[in-house]
Amino acid sequence: MERLGVLISGRGSNLQAIVDAIGSRQLHATVAVVISNRPEAAGLRRAREAGIETVCLEARDYAGRDAYDCALVAKLRDRRVDLVCLAGFMRIVGAPLLDAFPNRILNVHPSLLPAFPGVNAQQQALDHGVRITGATVHLVTPALDDGPIIAQAAVPVLDTDTVEALSARILIEEHRLYVEAIRLMLDGRWKVSGRRFVRHM
Ligand code: GRF
Repeated sequence: MERLGVLISGRGSNLQAIVDAIGSRQLHATVAVVISNRPEAAGLRRAREAGIETVCLEARDYAGRDAYDCALVAKLRDRRVDLVCLAGFMRIVGAPLLDAFPNRILNVHPSLLPAFPGVNAQQQALDHGVRITGATVHLVTPALDDGPIIAQAAVPVLDTDTVEALSARILIEEHRLYVEAIRLMLDGRWKVSGRRFVRHM
């Protein structure tokens, strides 16, 4: 059984989708640990309620970004994590973590990348006036929101949309897509070829 480490900073609804998919046997994996950089993250409570070990690592307790990332690696290795899932983790991942888990870190982003990377992707989509946006799950590389794309889903932008309404519709797709992407990763029939995540039989 492959072991997931889920990194969060807030609400944890993507974490919940992963936990639920494991519970309903859509995913054959286990969440070995949930790590947050914020003690108040609501997702920590979701994890505890699901009987999952939680860890909080606050940036202010570490000398710098590398020291923080090394602490993350130590925790993830200690729990024998195979795959790291960023689920609303609001920190840039640096070399110590990337080197420890090459092609083994996933992120979910609320736009059709490469459109609208960074924060407030849903507001960026509204401001730009696109008719279609969506969700992306990708492998994490040093550049922000830029790694090989594992799965995407389109979401129409409605004339009446507010950022809240659009975000809520994208979130539904994020939850479905993240589970699908983890399943693809775990079945192992894939390789990375340049920028592309390629599946094979
Ligand atoms: C999601 O929209 C995700 O795409 C973004 O942050 C949000 C996290 O939501 N990176 P949640 O904490 O999983 O509910």
